[in-house]
Amino acid sequence: MSTIHSAAGGRKKLVAGNWKMFTTPQSAAELARAVAHGVAGTAGRGGVLVCPPFPFLGLVAAALERSPVALGAQNCFHELEGAFTGEVSPRMLRDMGCDYVILGHSERRHKLGETDELISRKVRCAVEVGLRVILCFGETLPEREANKTEQVLDRQFSGSLAGLPPDKVPQLVFAYEPVWAIGTGRHATPEQAEQAHAFLRRRAAAAFGDVAARALTILYGGSVNPGNAASLFAEPEVDGGLIGGASLKANDFLDIVKAALPTSTP
Ligand code: 13P
Repeated sequence: MSTIHSAAGGRKKLVAGNWKMFTTPQSAAELARAVAHGVAGTAGRGGVLVCPPFPFLGLVAAALERSPVALGAQNCFHELEGAFTGEVSPRMLRDMGCDYVILGHSERRHKLGETDELISRKVRCAVEVGLRVILCFGETLPEREANKTEQVLDRQFSGSLAGLPPDKVPQLVFAYEPVWAIGTGRHATPEQAEQAHAFLRRRAAAAFGDVAARALTILYGGSVNPGNAASLFAEPEVDGGLIGGASLKANDFLDIVKAALPTSTP
């Protein structure tokens, strides 16, 4: 498992690339090599993670060998094995070298109909095999305009984390990804991100206690790019980013990594 450095404030900083359903075998391997090269020598200074599509996990794992860049997947099933045609077990992800899995992404909630109840089952299954879960939260534009952001985050929190054994809480990372900012070029202001992250942390404190909540890494996602990353990451509650489009260009992704982990420049 890659080393994740504790940032000022004691929390772990992390920059994760969500490659979504992009790349080819060749471009995935090239991108992974470029990211590994870009963060070479920074082991222990921060957490950098890439999440390629399932079929490319093996070749990306090979490209990342001996690098501090961690590997994650974008989804998993809620059982460890069985007759579930087409599904992927969290144990298989571990066996392929994954440390992380993204769950509850808004594209899965909204385009594939995943419910909080389904997500909670996936979360419990993934943490059981030792994966760290990047659990996504976020409101739609109509929900934000109706002042329902906190209500939505609260509902997603209660539903997606139902039944989680308390000793698994340290395996969680949260990502606040307002749906209206994903793939739109429109990002939350640093203040909007800060407020949503602070709400999630208060909610975590109520559920898991202050110590666990203070240690929880909360990423911002939604049109993060090299131009806006520094201002978002300057907020005390923003512990890094979950990057979509900009993670597909090595230079852009590495610039974002530098904005989050400024000491990581060799
Ligand atoms: P974009 O950075 O492309 O807006 O995507 C964000 C995201 O969904 C990351 O999971």
